[in-house]
Amino acid sequence: MIEPYYQSDRVTLYHGDCLAILPTLEDGSVDAVVTDPPYGINTKSDGMGKLNPWADLCNSAMWYAAWIRESRRVAGALWSCLNWRSLVTFQKASCDVGWPIESLMVWHKDWIGPGGTRGLRPSYELVAFWSNGRTIADRGLSDVQTFKWCGHKPNGHPAEKPVGLMQFCADAVQASVVLDPFTGSGTTGVACIKTGRRFIGIEIDEKYCEIAARRIQKAEAEAMEQLCDSNTSPTTTGETRCH
Ligand SMILES: C[S@@+](CC[C@H](N)C(=O)[O-])C[C@H]1O[C@@H](n2cnc3c(N)ncnc32)[C@H](O)[C@@H]1O
Repeated sequence: MIEPYYQSDRVTLYHGDCLAILPTLEDGSVDAVVTDPPYGINTKSDGMGKLNPWADLCNSAMWYAAWIRESRRVAGALWSCLNWRSLVTFQKASCDVGWPIESLMVWHKDWIGPGGTRGLRPSYELVAFWSNGRTIADRGLSDVQTFKWCGHKPNGHPAEKPVGLMQFCADAVQASVVLDPFTGSGTTGVACIKTGRRFIGIEIDEKYCEIAARRIQKAEAEAMEQLCDSNTSPTTTGETRCH
């Protein structure tokens, strides 16, 4: 059994490679995977950093297919952040796994990024959805959603996402148990704690694992405080008691 890095009533956070830890989770043991993997990884076709774009994409798709296959085994649904550059890799990986993308959501950031010197300035990213039995209950939900974001990284992770975006994904499939195999600074975990869900996280970089553990612990303390406030009543001596 792998020892968790952080554990509480609602949270289990592992430090390690998700390709090693995912196989230890039982079939169908979570409602949804809500995640945000690195957008370009294992892409060096000749191992020297000289890129052959199509070979790189296929190499990358093998790695994506490995964790997408595991997500399908353990979860009723998968949401994954991506961008237009990695979309083709995701499509190839999904075809290889035999699990088609059901919807592609545009996350409108309500903010315009700096971009390069030649193209348009970016203001959106994408979130793909795969269903493995769990579906989106609210038939009124559109595939364009706005969650305000900006270049500021409040918890020190360069790819941090808004809590509201990750919460939207869990809400949409009414998930009670959520897994994020690429936890980063713990945004999905915080979204889960705020909404009374159970969370399983995996993060390979110890620095981010530590940030995630502290962030999630803080969110748990705040949730407990709120619960206490709503259950607090004055006693006969005038003090307040949480019950
Ligand atoms: C895009 S970031 C996630 C950011 C996160 N959504 C947040 O808001 O902070 C992807 C994370 O996956 C981690 N990662 C990369 N490869 C991994 C692997 N094989 N297993 C587990 N984590 C991995 C990276 O260290 C990185 O922190």
